[in-house]
Amino acid sequence: MSHVEEDHEGSRRDFLYYATAGAGAVTAGAAIWPLVNQMNPSADVVAASTMRVDVSSVGPGTQLTVLFLGKPVFIRRRTEEEITAAREVSLDELPDDIARNENLGDVPADDANRTLDEAGEWLVMQGVCTHLGCVPLGDAGDFGGWFCPCHGSHYDTSGRIRRGPAPENLPVPVAEFVDETTILLG
Ligand code: FES
Repeated sequence: MSHVEEDHEGSRRDFLYYATAGAGAVTAGAAIWPLVNQMNPSADVVAASTMRVDVSSVGPGTQLTVLFLGKPVFIRRRTEEEITAAREVSLDELPDDIARNENLGDVPADDANRTLDEAGEWLVMQGVCTHLGCVPLGDAGDFGGWFCPCHGSHYDTSGRIRRGPAPENLPVPVAEFVDETTILLG
C-alpha cells in the first residue's frame, strides 16, 4: 500500500514547479519521497479531492511536505519548544490576528486555533507564502518557523506572519486525524 494516497488536480508541470520552488522547504529525508511518489498518480486517485497521509514516520521537529490540489502542504510535528514558543505569543504581537483556519472560520490567531490536535503537536498548513506565493523554507527565519526568501517574510512556529511583506498567516486547510497515524486532507 502506498505511503501516501493522493489526489490532486495538479498537472505534472505544477508538480515540477513546486518541487523546484519548494526544494528548500524539505527539512527531512522523509519529506522527499511523497513528492516523488506523486509524479505518477494512478488513474483512480487523480480525480479525488481528498488525500490520506500516513504520518507514522514523522518525528518531532520534522516536517512532511505533500502536494495536495496542486499546492504544497506542510505537515509538521512540533517539538515542545516549538509549541511553547507559539503559545507564548500574544495576539497584539501579530500583524494578522486571524487564525486563517478553514476548519474554524474567523477565529483569533491563538496557536490553539491553528493546530490539528489540542496539545498542539501537529500543524498542517498550506506551504504558500501569502505575499506572492513562493514556498517558504522550514526551520528558518527570525521566529524559528518558516522563512520566505523571495521578499523576506518571517513566520513563527505556528506559521503566523511576524515580519515582512506577507499580509496573512499561512492558511490551515481542512484536515483531520482519521486514526492515530493518518491525516485526511480535504
Ligand atoms: S512571496 Fe514570500 S515574501 Fe514575497
